[in-house]
Amino acid sequence: MSIHKILVTGANGQLGWELAQAASSFPEFEFVFVDRTILDLAKPESFDAIINSIVPDAIINTAAYTAVDKAEIEKELAYTVNALAVQELARISKNLGIPFISYSTDYVFNGNATSPYLPDTTVDPVNYYGTTKADGERMAMDANEQTIIIRTSWVFSKHGNNFVKTMLRLMKERANLSIVGDQQGRPTYAKDLALATIQMLIAINKGQEIKGIYHYANTGETSWYEFAQKIKELADLKCDLKAINTIDFPTPAKRPAYSVLDTHKIESEISITIPNWEIALSECIVALLKNNY
Ligand SMILES: NC(=O)c1ccc[n+]([C@@H]2O[C@H](COP(=O)([O-])OP(=O)(O)OC[C@H]3O[C@@H](n4cnc5c(N)ncnc54)[C@H](OP(=O)(O)O)[C@@H]3O)[C@@H](O)[C@H]2O)c1
Repeated sequence: MSIHKILVTGANGQLGWELAQAASSFPEFEFVFVDRTILDLAKPESFDAIINSIVPDAIINTAAYTAVDKAEIEKELAYTVNALAVQELARISKNLGIPFISYSTDYVFNGNATSPYLPDTTVDPVNYYGTTKADGERMAMDANEQTIIIRTSWVFSKHGNNFVKTMLRLMKERANLSIVGDQQGRPTYAKDLALATIQMLIAINKGQEIKGIYHYANTGETSWYEFAQKIKELADLKCDLKAINTIDFPTPAKRPAYSVLDTHKIESEISITIPNWEIALSECIVALLKNNY
């Protein structure tokens, strides 16, 4: 079956918004975007009626409980949204005989590695958010063999809340800032991830078998401190930045020290070249500066 009509959850999130921006460039697809007022992931029992009224050829779930620290407290809600709802979306997709795409995180890994994590590396989350996402991955793949999980990391966009926009605001307000320098990862421009997701749909329509776990992040790796330095340079800000250690910046949820994702599988299977994170960041900052953030 060819994919034409695609239901996308999380319309107001970074990735949902970037998919909506990209949609008009792909007229072969009809995207139906829903936000939490239409499809509330905290209420999986409501999904059947809503999805059966849309009758999609694929479901892309960008919605998630993404408040990493708050998830340590709001455990039940985080688990419902990131695991039970994802399982239910996969089950409904299975009944409709359609592919299900959902996103996961570098935080499913424990951070003890010293080389990039492969999609088949055993998960071992160090915080509750990571636990809910790891459970959601497994439960969705068990419910529908046409499930595609795309793990990503350190997502930023012109739209929504993210590290880039927080840094731009804080660097304008403050004379100095301390940023964690001993966590290593790969920033991801939600716009690039949205385009890669659409390339996957195109590959499926060409008859390619795409299923299971993939990793997507912009190329290159960095620390939060170096990421902030680059933001400062690109936005021409004056704030003094100091690198600190994770131990000096305690947070409710632990973070993996090293969460670099290996993206070779997605690059080779759908023949894409992933942009470098500094180039992607520069494009995002130019757009943000144009709109005065
Ligand atoms: N952001 C990152 O750094 C990051 C890193 C690794 C992986 N990921 C994963 O990448 C995917 C996309 O993330 P993102 O950056 O686009 O996240 P985001 O900007 O935080 O957006 C998440 C969206 O989910 C929606 N949502 C939350 N609870 C909901 C509910 N109960 N019902 C319906 N919608 C709900 C939010 O709705 P409202 O707008 O109404 O609040 C928001 O629009 C997620 O699976 C996330 O776990 C993100």
